[in-house]
Amino acid sequence: MLSCPICQAPLTAVDNGVACPANHRFDRARQGYLNLLPVQHKNSRDPGDNAAMVEARRRFLDGGHYAPLAARLAELAAGYKPQHWLDIGCGEGYYTAQIAEALPDADGYALDISREAVKRACKRAPHLNWLIASMARVPLADASCGLLASVFSPLDWQEAKRLLAPGGGLLRMGPTRDHLMELRQKLYDEVRDYDDQKHLELIPAGMHLAHSETLSFPLLLDTPEARADLLAMTPHGWRASAERRAAVIAESFEVTVAIRYDWIERDAS
Ligand SMILES: C[S@@+](CC[C@H](N)C(=O)[O-])C[C@H]1O[C@@H](n2cnc3c(N)ncnc32)[C@H](O)[C@@H]1O
Ligand SMILES: [Zn+2]
Repeated sequence: MLSCPICQAPLTAVDNGVACPANHRFDRARQGYLNLLPVQHKNSRDPGDNAAMVEARRRFLDGGHYAPLAARLAELAAGYKPQHWLDIGCGEGYYTAQIAEALPDADGYALDISREAVKRACKRAPHLNWLIASMARVPLADASCGLLASVFSPLDWQEAKRLLAPGGGLLRMGPTRDHLMELRQKLYDEVRDYDDQKHLELIPAGMHLAHSETLSFPLLLDTPEARADLLAMTPHGWRASAERRAAVIAESFEVTVAIRYDWIERDAS
């Protein structure tokens, strides 16, 4: 399954890590994940989400506020019955672990470019294959995956297509235009409309949209911690002024959670 991020040859297990025939070696961390991100593929010293963002997301998600989103995601994943699956941009692993639970017999992989994220994620489901890697050069073989998950993350569509076996698909979860509307109204004078179909224009030839559905519910943000963490884990948190952020944290309010799921399949032939 795993391929060398430098020369693409297959990786095999060696002492304390993996290596390819050209002897590119990658260590397994004490926590169990593999670091398959060569320094030359890093655009910065610490790419991806930093520790503060990862911690905020972990606290918020562990608070159960988005539990219905994860439950439906896992249910959808189970319905597609993949043998091998990969979560691309897994973050601190909240959704990944629930997909894994719904697919107990499948071989699961998860990657993120953020070390801080993967370090925490691998504790949630130690039996999965956790990778620090870039979604632009995924160290897995062509056509190796029956299901790819992409949850609130950017995506390299050509890589996704390369990784999918014919008939396999990408399960994407992302916001609709109503997502967190009340929060956005508090943060901005003018709420920017958001085209929640835009990603569909990026579907490459050889893949097609096979299913879409939405899920929405009101969420009461009744603790200052939940409000601060939600701000810290969304782009809205760092775009808005300090004054507006403080106002959001100050009092309880209800926010709309509104999500869409898309299943985008690799053509069968
Ligand atoms: C908004 S977070 C979503 C995390 C997780 N899926 C969740 O919903 O909790 C986006 C994630 O994408 C990761 N990311 C950004 N660019 C990446 C890249 N080029 N390769 C892999 N991961 C990347 C970030 O580190 C971050 O963890
Ligand atoms: Zn190699």
